[in-house]
Amino acid sequence: MRIDILTVLPDLFTSWFGESIIERARSKGLVEVHVHDLRAWSTDKHRRVDDYPFGGGAGMVMQVEPIHRAITELKSQRAYDEVIYLSPDGELLGQPLANQLSTARNLILLCGHYKGVDERVREHLITREVSIGDYVLTGGELAAAVLSDAIIRLVPGVIGDETSALSDSFQDGLVAPPAYTRPADYQGWKVPDVLLSGHQARIDAWRHEQAVDRTRKRRPGLLGSGE
Ligand code: ADE
Repeated sequence: MRIDILTVLPDLFTSWFGESIIERARSKGLVEVHVHDLRAWSTDKHRRVDDYPFGGGAGMVMQVEPIHRAITELKSQRAYDEVIYLSPDGELLGQPLANQLSTARNLILLCGHYKGVDERVREHLITREVSIGDYVLTGGELAAAVLSDAIIRLVPGVIGDETSALSDSFQDGLVAPPAYTRPADYQGWKVPDVLLSGHQARIDAWRHEQAVDRTRKRRPGLLGSGE
């Protein structure tokens, strides 16, 4: 899988994609993440990529031309499954969308800034708009990092224990059951006996019960059709 990120703040991604699981996935060749500075496609001598909004009003708008040039250049090199614009009014990111996008070969993520992008970008260049939640961030960069992380960890081989991504919260419509590690008794705070019992079937049943119970208490909206 390859992800190309278009942004005016490329440095924001350096440490995120340079560390830990994502870095290992990149060095194992499972994913490629390319972060591009949109200013590279500016034709302005000051490398500007934004301008005042027609009709007046506060804030700047990202121009169509540099974005069009960037996307056209990338598309001339390979086919993209989706060109995604991160925006608070996009489709809300959830596990099903992350699952779906994790099967893509190539994705472009466009990070908006200022007052957003010229509407013609959305009309003509974007195939999908994604929001990471009902709140407004200063730009799309954090949202692009969140979306990339949610997708990349689902790519086969990225997470060491193959079953671990599948047993995540939300994959089965349930939140995760509680987890414990040593010591079994910390100053009187004890690990449930069943987890120390060695009976895998009982442990699995207990975990499922806990997951259902927690989901009912914390996120009842996830139950509903299934269960
Ligand atoms: N850009 C600003 N806020 C955002 C959000 N909540 N989701 C995606 N992109 C955004």
